[in-house]
Amino acid sequence: MRLDKFIAHCTGASRSEVKRWIRAKCVTVAGITTTDPRHYIAPPDEVTLNGSPLAYPHARYYMLHKPEGVVCSNEDGEHPTALDCLTGIHREGLQIAGRLDKDTTGLVLITDDGQWNHTITAPRAAKNKVYCVSLAKPISAQCMAQFAEGILLKGESKPTRPANVAPITDTKVRVTLHEGRYHQVKRMFAACGNHVTALHRESVAGIVLDAALAPGQFRPLTQAEINLSKSTSTDE
Ligand code: URA
Repeated sequence: MRLDKFIAHCTGASRSEVKRWIRAKCVTVAGITTTDPRHYIAPPDEVTLNGSPLAYPHARYYMLHKPEGVVCSNEDGEHPTALDCLTGIHREGLQIAGRLDKDTTGLVLITDDGQWNHTITAPRAAKNKVYCVSLAKPISAQCMAQFAEGILLKGESKPTRPANVAPITDTKVRVTLHEGRYHQVKRMFAACGNHVTALHRESVAGIVLDAALAPGQFRPLTQAEINLSKSTSTDE
């Protein structure tokens, strides 16, 4: 986090006032006087203002069971948003870590920790995402092979990463992806000549949707869940 933003957050002062303090050498970072408001700080670096240490705000992490009809954008004039579902929570600074379509249900992660969000969503991290998919037609062996090989989607230059399809019934499958392209599951099945009739995300980066959460309900992540996403590799 930027130094000036951090001090403004801790003290309630305006950014311009904070910048004056920093330039007046009232601030140290890890014991060294710093005059650059853009200086990047992160725990465990101690920040002091006029000799008094400032405490880092606790980052917040939530899982939401997204219902149908809710959009994963910060604001929408027409539809309720995933952030609207977090009733009773101070929403400023919260970001959605990996979006779902309006008609998709299931796990959505929400945080104000930008770095953690990045570890979940960065394409290079290739965190796994598991979906339960209902299909219009029975799953074919050929479609499963196409998913495993990678599919060149319309308008794209690179095929999808190998994805796993595990049949549950003829027309219901569990799909594991290691990337998150636009409408990816629906487009992959469309490319195989099938059609997704319902889509539900069960887990992301090893964090599993809590079965006790009804659609629209949310809860904070446990520390174990927060840590899990830092450690899960691409092939889990
Ligand atoms: N793939 C889709 O097609 N839609 C989603 O919401 C998520 C993955």
